[in-house]
Amino acid sequence: MSLQLLKGKKGIIFGALDESSIAWKVAEKAFEHGAEFILTNAPVALRMGKINQLAEKCNTEVVGADATSIEDLENLFKVATEKYGKLDFVLHSIGMSINVRKKKPYTDLNHDWMMKSIDISAISFHKTMQTAYKMDALNNGASVLALTYIAAQKTFPGYGEMAEAKSMLESFARSFGYYYGKDKKVRVNTISQSPTITTAGSGIEGFDVFYNYAEKLSPLGNADSDSCADYCIVMFSDLTRMVTMQNLFHDGGYSSIGLSEAFIEEMSGGK
Ligand SMILES: NC(=O)c1ccc[n+]([C@@H]2O[C@H](COP(=O)([O-])OP(=O)(O)OC[C@H]3O[C@@H](n4cnc5c(N)ncnc54)[C@H](O)[C@@H]3O)[C@@H](O)[C@H]2O)c1
Repeated sequence: MSLQLLKGKKGIIFGALDESSIAWKVAEKAFEHGAEFILTNAPVALRMGKINQLAEKCNTEVVGADATSIEDLENLFKVATEKYGKLDFVLHSIGMSINVRKKKPYTDLNHDWMMKSIDISAISFHKTMQTAYKMDALNNGASVLALTYIAAQKTFPGYGEMAEAKSMLESFARSFGYYYGKDKKVRVNTISQSPTITTAGSGIEGFDVFYNYAEKLSPLGNADSDSCADYCIVMFSDLTRMVTMQNLFHDGGYSSIGLSEAFIEEMSGGK
């Protein structure tokens, strides 16, 4: 790799579970681009053991943290800053809904599970940034990213309360982005990614239909996790130093399309 967009940069990557995870791809690319980082995931994910293979590949270590626990997050930032000094990037690649996993209809959601989804999938982003902010753990110009989905803007059946969680996540990026930008010149953005075949993605009822529908409508087709990781690298780099408080669609054009010829052909039975 001749281009080292992240040379000298240090960070934390949340959410690499297995090779299909978007965060896994981001870690591989960040390493290729010269970054050093801590990998983290929830204790239950660590027990699966796969993340250690990634850590070995990226010449780094894994620090367990439940992203809903301030205590865990404080420990994580403490370990990372003791190792590297102040950090330059953070990736929040976390999502989980028991209602979605158990295929509960939107009109019959379990509200305790809903609270848990929102805590894990959205409030954890605020908790992560607030912990970093209070500990002054990020350098001037650092870049914080979270991954989101267009169900924050449009309704998709089967996505349960994750739609609301993603709306909240995107709003946290704007609101925290204001304070973090003003006070410490840190940028905060969300990347709204195409349907992607991963553990979290495939847990959604009718995921194949989501995937194929978006693929047919998007002029470039669906963005895969590899290209999403490339976009994350650019967003962590200094090339995007003035971009903040944005929800950035990384979806092959899906978010801007009304109807495609491929779709018309399909709907008219090829006539
Ligand atoms: N796959 C898709 O179609 C798609 C599309 C758009 C956005 N996204 C978003 O991308 C992100 C990554 O998802 P993915 O598709 O790579 O799936 P994934 O299942 O590989 O990643 C989700 C991660 O969240 C972690 N996690 C769950 N609870 C946690 C907790 N309490 N503390 C810390 N970590 C916790 C899991 O262990 C896992 O590593 C999520 O925010 C997801 O909503 C995914």
